[in-house]
Amino acid sequence: VTTPEFTLCDGLRAAREDRADSPAARLAFPRLAREFGTPLYVYDRGVIETQYDALRSAFAARFRRLRIFYAVKANTNVALIRFLHRRGAGAEVVSRGETFLSRTAGVPPGAILFSSSSKSPDEIADAVANGILLNVDSMDELEQIAEQASSAATTAAISFRVNPGVDPDTLHKINTGISESKFGVHLEGGLALEAYRRAAALPGLRIAGLHAHVGSQIVDPAGHVETLRRLLAFARELKERLGVVLDFVDVGGGLGIPYEDGQKVMSADDLAAALAPVWSEGTRALGYEPELWVEPGRFFVGPSGVLLARVNSVKRTPVRTFLNVDAGFNTLMRPSMYGAYHRVRVVGRAAPDEIVDVAGDVCETGDLLAEGRRLPRAAAGDLVVFLDAGAYGFAMTSEYNARPLPAEVLVDGDEAVLIRRRGTFEELLRSQIPPGRFS
Ligand code: LLP
Repeated sequence: VTTPEFTLCDGLRAAREDRADSPAARLAFPRLAREFGTPLYVYDRGVIETQYDALRSAFAARFRRLRIFYAVKANTNVALIRFLHRRGAGAEVVSRGETFLSRTAGVPPGAILFSSSSKSPDEIADAVANGILLNVDSMDELEQIAEQASSAATTAAISFRVNPGVDPDTLHKINTGISESKFGVHLEGGLALEAYRRAAALPGLRIAGLHAHVGSQIVDPAGHVETLRRLLAFARELKERLGVVLDFVDVGGGLGIPYEDGQKVMSADDLAAALAPVWSEGTRALGYEPELWVEPGRFFVGPSGVLLARVNSVKRTPVRTFLNVDAGFNTLMRPSMYGAYHRVRVVGRAAPDEIVDVAGDVCETGDLLAEGRRLPRAAAGDLVVFLDAGAYGFAMTSEYNARPLPAEVLVDGDEAVLIRRRGTFEELLRSQIPPGRFS
């Protein structure tokens, strides 16, 4: 008898393609669970590569001067940061910790963009001292950066994150009113122009660019297109009124991925194609061509990852049926926090015939990872797979309920490499100080 050969990646692909009952999936997931335990984050290296290359080729074909950054907040495992950096991506960071992890992954300071709306004096000092580009979010912050740079007798390169007053989600269900957003210096009311004027006058600063990021999980190019149009019109104003010439214009990240079966989202190619005419027209009017920067997070790593969990028990109530699994909102926060949808597969079971809720192991009513799903009848011990968990999955985990953090594995072909070992009980105590005189 010959056993058919399937790689771990075949198993991951089978789950993505809704064939979790196929031999490939039946082999891969129990093997991963046996070797690394559950709950477990598993990333398919080939998918990250495909996603990155798709974006790079779509943009490189249309933009002569292009720079790609990986928004590391999506997944800060240094193995993934390093992988994307080696393929050419810089790092977009929002904290000193993210800077530290990016540097550890081999990203040089010159390929890091620091972009948070609330930077501490310590974060500003670190970026200034290390020559990391600061994406400024307020006038107050600008003054602090100039002061730091002057006292360190150095020059800080800056851009401004502007608030372009564009709502990218008007066509969609998630609607975030941009005027209420805490991010960016408003173009509206001349505020951004005033900010650049001030930056040009302050010592210790070098104006390098212009930035906007109008949201995440955007599935239609319209918001990016309108943002770019406004950015380029503003760049022209900067040149004509202040004589400022920019090295780069950054359109942010935000490319959505399909989380649901059959969900239509823009591709990297759709976005690049929609931006290209606005870019050529806008830069022609501008009289020079800055670099175009993009900084996706989710798009690169989201589709590559799954969360593998095990069914602890099945509970049938008069109202609902719960699959109680060994992961919760401390493992995957997106469903509880945003009402986000992740496809769920039951490994090794065919024929969906039951409507269930997949409940987490956190002691809170709101800890449901999936609701009202038609799934195959599962039993205790079965493995379930949550798809598209590579972005904002592990990155948002916590030790709530005193559960050690899950492990992470990077899979390539039939090889699985542990890139984060499972947390331990000792780690729950790692920073606690034994009770002193108050107890
Ligand atoms: N650039 C900036 C300045 C950002 O704030 C973000 C994300 C990105 C780039 C990358 O956005 P992406 O390409 O990944 O959409 N936790 C949420 C998503 C929060 C996104 C925050 N900022 C979620 O789980 O959906």
